[in-house]
Amino acid sequence: MKKIVVLISGSGSNLQSLIDSCHTGAIDARIVAVISNQGNAYGLVRAQQAGIPVCYLDAKQYTDRQAYDSALLKHIEQYQPDLVVLAGFMRILTPLFVQKFMGKLLNIHPSLLPKYPGLHTHRKALENGDKEHGTSVHFVTEELDGGPVILQAKVPIFAQDSEEDIIERVKAQEHTIYPMVVKWFVSGRLVMDEGKAVLDGNILPQQGYVDK
Ligand code: GAR
Repeated sequence: MKKIVVLISGSGSNLQSLIDSCHTGAIDARIVAVISNQGNAYGLVRAQQAGIPVCYLDAKQYTDRQAYDSALLKHIEQYQPDLVVLAGFMRILTPLFVQKFMGKLLNIHPSLLPKYPGLHTHRKALENGDKEHGTSVHFVTEELDGGPVILQAKVPIFAQDSEEDIIERVKAQEHTIYPMVVKWFVSGRLVMDEGKAVLDGNILPQQGYVDK
């Protein structure tokens, strides 16, 4: 069975959707470890409740980014994962780390990439008067939030919405699309080839999978 390591920083609701999908067999893989850079991340509790080994790596214990990422890399490598999933992991990774896992490193980012890379995406969409927002699952490359998009989901923004409303609406979509993409990957349908996301042998367009 394929092995997945999940990296988190927060509540871990996306992690939960992956745990649930592995339990039901929708994803034919096992989450072998969950690693957090925040000691109080609720996702660590979710992992423990599911009997998954957890690890907290505190950046303050390391001199710089390289040192942190090489410790992270070492910890991950002991599990020999087929896939590393970033599920709300709020740290920029060094090129060395990204290169090591290139092609088997996925991220979910709460915007319709290439729009709004970086932080506070929901707030930016709201402030700019956007009528829609969304989320993107993509392969991670050295460019921040710049790797090839695999799948996006859109949500409407309504006139009375707060930032929290949009965050929750986006997360609901994330809990559907992230397990779907992980399933594609572990079943061998999805690969990264020459910097492109390829599903069933077809290069995906810039916005990821679209039904034609
Ligand atoms: C998710 O909305 C995810 O898209 C976002 O963090 C949230 C984590 O929620 N990721 C990023 O902003 C990465 N740049 P969760 O902890 O409940 O899964």
